[in-house]
Amino acid sequence: MELPFAESYKIKMVEPIRQSTRAEREQWIKEANYNVFKLRSNQVFIDLLTDSGTGAMSDRQWSEMMLGDESYAGASSYFKMKDAIRDLLGFEYFLPTHQGRAAENVLFSALVKAGDIVPGNSHFDTTKGHIEFRKAKAVDCTIKEAFNTAVYHPFKGNLDLNKLEDVLKSNPREIIPLIVVTVTCNSSGGQPVSMENLKGVRQLADKYGVMVLFDSARFAENAYFIKTREAGYEHRSIREIVLEMFSYADAMTMSSKKDAIVNMGGFIGLRSRELFEKASVFNIMFEGYVTYGGMSGRDMNALAQGLHEGTDFEYLKTRISQVEYLGHRLIEFGVPVQQPIGGHAVFVDAKRFLPQLPKEHFQAQMLVVELYLEAGVRGVEIGALLADRDPETRENRFPALELLRLAIPRRVYTNNHMDYVATALANVYERSNTITSGLKIVNEAPIMRHFTVDLARI
Ligand code: F0G
Repeated sequence: MELPFAESYKIKMVEPIRQSTRAEREQWIKEANYNVFKLRSNQVFIDLLTDSGTGAMSDRQWSEMMLGDESYAGASSYFKMKDAIRDLLGFEYFLPTHQGRAAENVLFSALVKAGDIVPGNSHFDTTKGHIEFRKAKAVDCTIKEAFNTAVYHPFKGNLDLNKLEDVLKSNPREIIPLIVVTVTCNSSGGQPVSMENLKGVRQLADKYGVMVLFDSARFAENAYFIKTREAGYEHRSIREIVLEMFSYADAMTMSSKKDAIVNMGGFIGLRSRELFEKASVFNIMFEGYVTYGGMSGRDMNALAQGLHEGTDFEYLKTRISQVEYLGHRLIEFGVPVQQPIGGHAVFVDAKRFLPQLPKEHFQAQMLVVELYLEAGVRGVEIGALLADRDPETRENRFPALELLRLAIPRRVYTNNHMDYVATALANVYERSNTITSGLKIVNEAPIMRHFTVDLARI
């Protein structure tokens, strides 16, 4: 018999979690104004709010924490991180930052100005936030297949190269500071970008003289999909694939809270010394001196170790198989999900789940609330709340997809937890026709409203 698949690690430390009653959850979600960001974590049984900073570090990473060098300048921990970034990702210059959006803030301060246009594949919300905050515009060039959850495409994170070329052709070079390629593409469902597409973007960038930035939070998961789905890469190692991927980029921003499997941290990787020097000034202003940038030495050590672990094939197989497992359980129950299943999360199609609700009722957020009430499982909305208002017209933006994202923390939950989540959502699906009204906004912030918004039942 062929041996079944099993995790590439065993568990040394556990953390208790607690079930609650439906009555308790009814009260808690009301007190949280139907915004799951406002729940306390002990009001949640299984927390799939995000895979960001929620992973379990390994014994090797914890031992690296003990070796952290807390010198203000020139710490050995900085050089450990520098070596890992150069060896694994191929960037000569780097700046540490406290997390991914801080990397965006520093780099965009050096690159993006009012009136600019930044094409990319479904820019992540903080990336878009940092572009729009500077009165520049993010233009989405993702392939159209990404917006139909029922259509299979192995690389739904790909950019439509014709669309991209149109943007590059029809605007003066001076107002396009960079192209952003998000690997994997979080907003389209944790979907990968193929190597062929990365090459295509590079060619267009060279043709029009524009730089390419990879938003790299889940670059290793992207490499896993290239290895397992793209012809010609099946015999290449993850690390070879990662190096080739980044060879098509001029710069990278990284939220290390994902594929470097740490709880906090980020960085910018660069090839240009000139840009490194320009960005260093902003790093010192916003983050900290260039050899720590908002991170402690122990955290830089754990991050460097995490980059090695996160680019290991067996680890990635364990990780992505678990996400697939949850996705396939949901498919068995008939629940509509973005297919193929993404790298870090399962994205449930709320428009197909709750077709009776108008979009003004925030379908995906309503589904988030229903899942929480059903079983104490916390997912997150990727829909109209997150899409925010148009910065000029101040009208609500209703995106093509209304999604409930179930993001799986790395090395944290077992497949029993996945079964629990799938069953809970199947129960909601079974009674979905009884959900006849959704939510309205009572109070919201002027930008990035989804974190703090207050909602009420309609
Ligand atoms: N880019 C991508 C693709 C992301 O998914 C995130 C964060 C960031 C940048 C920003 O990084 O949080 O370290 O500042 N995504 C988290 C999520 C928050 O839940 O998907 P950060």
